[in-house]
Amino acid sequence: MTNTKTLLTSVFILAWLHSAVAVRAQATIKVQVDQPGHPVSPTLWGIFFEDINLSADGGLYPELVRNRSFEDANEPQFWTFKDSGGSGSAAIDNSHSLNPSNPHCLCVKANGAFSLQNQGYWGMNIVQGQKYKLSLAARIEGGFSSPLTIRILDVAGKELASGEISGLTKDWSYYTLELTASASDPKASLEIASAGKGELFLDMVSLMPETTWKNHGLRTDLAGALDNLHPSFVRFPGGNWVEGDDIAHMYHWKYTIGNVDSRIPLWNTWGYNTTQGLGFYEYLQLCEDLGAEPLFDINCGMALNGISVPMDQMAPWVNDALDAIEYANGPTNSYWGGLRARAGHPAPFNLKYMEIGNENGGPDYHQRWPLLANAIREKYPDMKLIMTTSLTGYPYPKNPKPDIIDEHYYESPESFMRRAHQYDHYNRGGPKIFVGEYAVTAKSGLGNLRAALGEAAFMTGIERNSDVVAMASYAPLFVNVNHRAWNPDLINFDSSRWYGIPSYYVQQMFSENRGDVTLPVQVDSPIAVIPASKGMIGVGTWNTEAEFKDIKVTAPDGETLFASDFTTNLDGWKLLGGGHWDITDGQLRQTAEKEFIRALAGKPSWTDYTLTLKARKLGGREGFLILFHIVNDDDRTWWNLGGWNNTQDALENGGVIDPKPGRIETGRWYDIRLEISGNHIMCYLDGHLVHNINYESDQQVAALYSSASRDKKTGDLVVKAVNVSANPLKTEINLSGAKGLTGKGLATVLTSATPADENTLDNPTKVSPEQETINFDGTTLTRSLPGNSFTVLRLHTESR
Ligand code: AHR
Repeated sequence: MTNTKTLLTSVFILAWLHSAVAVRAQATIKVQVDQPGHPVSPTLWGIFFEDINLSADGGLYPELVRNRSFEDANEPQFWTFKDSGGSGSAAIDNSHSLNPSNPHCLCVKANGAFSLQNQGYWGMNIVQGQKYKLSLAARIEGGFSSPLTIRILDVAGKELASGEISGLTKDWSYYTLELTASASDPKASLEIASAGKGELFLDMVSLMPETTWKNHGLRTDLAGALDNLHPSFVRFPGGNWVEGDDIAHMYHWKYTIGNVDSRIPLWNTWGYNTTQGLGFYEYLQLCEDLGAEPLFDINCGMALNGISVPMDQMAPWVNDALDAIEYANGPTNSYWGGLRARAGHPAPFNLKYMEIGNENGGPDYHQRWPLLANAIREKYPDMKLIMTTSLTGYPYPKNPKPDIIDEHYYESPESFMRRAHQYDHYNRGGPKIFVGEYAVTAKSGLGNLRAALGEAAFMTGIERNSDVVAMASYAPLFVNVNHRAWNPDLINFDSSRWYGIPSYYVQQMFSENRGDVTLPVQVDSPIAVIPASKGMIGVGTWNTEAEFKDIKVTAPDGETLFASDFTTNLDGWKLLGGGHWDITDGQLRQTAEKEFIRALAGKPSWTDYTLTLKARKLGGREGFLILFHIVNDDDRTWWNLGGWNNTQDALENGGVIDPKPGRIETGRWYDIRLEISGNHIMCYLDGHLVHNINYESDQQVAALYSSASRDKKTGDLVVKAVNVSANPLKTEINLSGAKGLTGKGLATVLTSATPADENTLDNPTKVSPEQETINFDGTTLTRSLPGNSFTVLRLHTESR
């Protein structure tokens, strides 16, 4: 039995210990100021622009008309035809092409008054007093002779600007108007109206703001948001978009240069048609305007569906790579350099970095890397060649040696925290590393503070090891909030507004406080406990039709938490991703072949449970997604069976965990069982254990992460500190051997009330950094780092 005196003494000792810890620092960062290390890589913090989530059309490339060239579909998608007579029509025509790159146009068969309306990308942003350039190509037949009335209308139908186009002929010609807006509306639309009889053919109907960023054709606020990140390089244009769904849809830069009407629009793997208005030239110009190195990623003859261009047909891919370099850098008397000059840029763009492929691996990449790398090195020995690596971890080719290897990470906040030290141990004699894509994609909401802190912790490790990690870029960069094909994304926008998620401010804080020389740091940190994973369950599909039944969730004590009842309706299920769901013969059936379709049920508070169900594939490219621990609608924590075009099974929680060969047969019922205990997941298929993993095997991570550098220009010592624990951390920062400290400095702090906090279009800077001046004595300062925070200290020295 416990003796009362002993108990009281223990309580006293504990209380004393507690207060002693509270008085003394709980953590220390020792910066060895007098032992500077390697230079901070000058190319370290860049950006990765991929045309994903309508980042280009409907985003950075400010075309206001959607489907301007009528190439998007076989019907006039995004155009509304209104006919007062009732016998007119508007349809896609492919027998009167404007040019071979744009085979489709619109044919209006008029019989009386009619109008065409286009609302752009969820409304056109029209600003009072601003000028807009309307241009279109038109021809007529069958006696049509009326002028066209062009109007910009606000959402209520009130006219904001108007003009007239007349004198149309039987031959294709371009017509332009300058329109000045009399009032503002971010949800305006364009109307083309006329009357008469006969046929009117239209193509390349464009409405562009006259004011663009640096007069180079890009949306001012979004390009400004990039500029504020001060990127040292821009990787472009993808990503999966470079690979394309199949060989026919691979990205070829040559189709993206010259007049916009002769560029070849291309179906984008992220679910829309791309105009290519943001082409190779515009990307290079953007890099120059940002003061950033261009890093061009070329298709290496491998597509997303796993089909590659045969080796004996790879010559055009080799030529594309060589010609891209000539286009960017060649003299004006070279063929491709001449085209660049005629496009308006006689001076070379100085392309120095080229990446071969994106997330490609396996035997096909082993053949294509040497082919392309040797050809480029032979003609352009100074070009820095970047090898891609596959997300599923194939060994990559070693010959010829790459200059740089591109690694990608999409994981939970805690995985990133653990990776803060991974580069401490990388081989200093091997290729440099480019972390070309990284982001916290689990437990991140639409981009929350916790996710940003996970990335910040990782980035301290990158900075400390920037003798090995030469470059890094967050991914993806942009999302039009009306077309979220990937989540989270650094910059969210609609037609007129944008905001950065907390990760945006982490990127900015690192790039604005790079320093030139690293200073070694030693961190003594307590442990932070990871909050337990929890959330709903669900079933889903990816380009596949499937049905599900007998879905049951059982608590560890045997209580049934949920049992599906598909006899009558889908009450209690949340259907997401635009699928076609119905109940057929007591089964839940999904018949749309689209990506990322899911049905969720249960409670966000559920932690441990066993999920059992039966699933059957009905058709399509993949298998099933069995979701668990889903807190937010966009979470992607699931068991992916028959993923990657029905070749692999893996768990995914942002990153790909434990991939194994796996295939789902069509028409066969499978028994599926997931036993979930904390982050320990056991996955059974037809009674066989396929995965037995603990994706956060250690429930603890360090609370504190740090890096330090000296900024030669200002003389400042720059100390970065990330506190991922929930509580403030009293931290002693010891500037060992520092000379000339002025005792003054500036602290920039990113934090918020809860780690789940996010920014929104209506509250864009809820989670954004705040600055305060600081004073300190000597070479040690003690500072309370707020719970869930990232702090950058700039400590001034006399050499300022
Ligand atoms: O950044 C989004 C996608 O993630 C990229 O297109 C691809 O490279 C990666 O898998």
